[in-house]
Amino acid sequence: MELSQLLRERRSVHRFQQKEVPVELATELLDTAIWVPNYHMTQPWRFIISHGEGKRRMAEAVRYMKEIREPDQSKRKETGQKFYDKIMAIPMIITVIMQENTNLIIREEDYASTSCIIHNFSLLAWERGIGLVWETYPWLLEAVFRDAMGIKPGEKVLGNLHVGYPAQIPNAQPRIPAMERITVISEA
Ligand SMILES: Cc1cc2nc3c(=O)[nH]c(=O)nc-3n(C[C@H](O)[C@H](O)[C@H](O)COP(=O)(O)O)c2cc1C
Repeated sequence: MELSQLLRERRSVHRFQQKEVPVELATELLDTAIWVPNYHMTQPWRFIISHGEGKRRMAEAVRYMKEIREPDQSKRKETGQKFYDKIMAIPMIITVIMQENTNLIIREEDYASTSCIIHNFSLLAWERGIGLVWETYPWLLEAVFRDAMGIKPGEKVLGNLHVGYPAQIPNAQPRIPAMERITVISEA
């Protein structure tokens, strides 16, 4: 597929078939996706791939966080179970983590590079018929999640990628044409 077509036809996917994405394939795609520009070559990223029974660790943490925040005592178990089941239903979750440099400028550049990896991966996956959505729910910041996943102090979680073979592909969300956002300076 032409790169331009891939870029225009990729969608964020929220609903997946109950079909495993091979870890070897995800790893192979990540190994290509990391070929991003990275000023200072800090390469600050790492990834946690959770799949199959391996999702239980995250699902249990989410269950706990959702239970303790449920104001209606009688609904706690039900609410926790709902979110547990949601996590378990996602075929593969890739947690994207970045070492936070103490230098603000390098930290921002590192965030830019790591974001490029996510989009590279998204396009490479789409080419293979695999969809994903980059999720940034607030509980990614919580100690319960971080501890469960072994995320160390000084590491930033950019998001969870929900990865799988699409059960439904959403319609395109229109973009403002770039023409409307371009200023061309041709003369002195
Ligand atoms: C940094 C970032 C965070 C995002 N977080 C979420 C999220 O938490 N939940 C979600 O449903 N989509 C999230 N998205 C996906 C966007 O909603 C999606 O890209 C946008 O609606 C455009 O749709 P498209 O990707 O299909 O073109 C995120 C995207 C980015 C770049």
